Amino acid sequence: MEVVISSSPTESYQIVASIFQSYILDHLDEKCVLGLATGSSPQGVYDELIRRFQFNELSFSHVNAFLLDEYLGLPPDHPQLYARYIRDVFISHLDMPNQNLHYPQVTQLNTGDISTICTDYEKKLRQIGPIGLQILGIGSNGHIGFNEPGSSLGSRTRIKTLSPITRTDNARFFSSEQDVPVHVITQGLGTILESQHIVLIAQGKQKASAIAQMIEGPVTINCPASVLQFHPHVTVVIDPEAASFLSNSSYYQFVQANKPDWQDKY
Ligand code: F6R
Repeated sequence: MEVVISSSPTESYQIVASIFQSYILDHLDEKCVLGLATGSSPQGVYDELIRRFQFNELSFSHVNAFLLDEYLGLPPDHPQLYARYIRDVFISHLDMPNQNLHYPQVTQLNTGDISTICTDYEKKLRQIGPIGLQILGIGSNGHIGFNEPGSSLGSRTRIKTLSPITRTDNARFFSSEQDVPVHVITQGLGTILESQHIVLIAQGKQKASAIAQMIEGPVTINCPASVLQFHPHVTVVIDPEAASFLSNSSYYQFVQANKPDWQDKY
């Protein structure tokens, strides 16, 4: 796991946008598949990528993208439905074909259809994937996707119940906490681990404890993000506040300052 401590959230967005740009430009003639998270942590990255697209620095016309998770129980036109949200804030500003965005089809839900939605989504991942570059945020309780503490480390796409902490944290996107859905469909931890390169971005003090547990704690279902310790290519990009509970930050900074010329920057 590579830990990059930036000087500010803005610098983190630049770093992660550059990782995306390199991946997209390196995959012009081959499979180019992104994994996208929603929530506030990656928004600055998406804004920066839109800016670079508008300056003709890259195109998304050959890109496929998979959403990590989706709320259950929201009406099809709800602005917080993640498939709609990611279109509004990101995809609709790019030249990526609409049909290249893939997500759990929850609006087609009839009673009893959840497992079909999950298997269809996993099937699509197998057909179009694997995901070459996955961006993740992290919950204050250590979730990734919506794999709440207690999630099986090998889990696949399935329904999950949000924890009270996550519903409180996400209430800022809804009129009230009661309006935050209780259930979601999320890629499992085993599904996420199949992405080839994972970049996790976090900012702010409220993420510091989860970040320290993920990087320096034991691998445990109590901090689902700690499963990333098993993955061969993870880049964690955090600002100084999110890094503030780490014991080894000076070593991570030393590593970044002393990279051999032949090694990829991130
Ligand atoms: C969203 C997702 C979640 C968020 C996490 C952090 O698609 O998968 O894991 O990344 O809840 O949310 P923010 O970034 O809003 O703090």
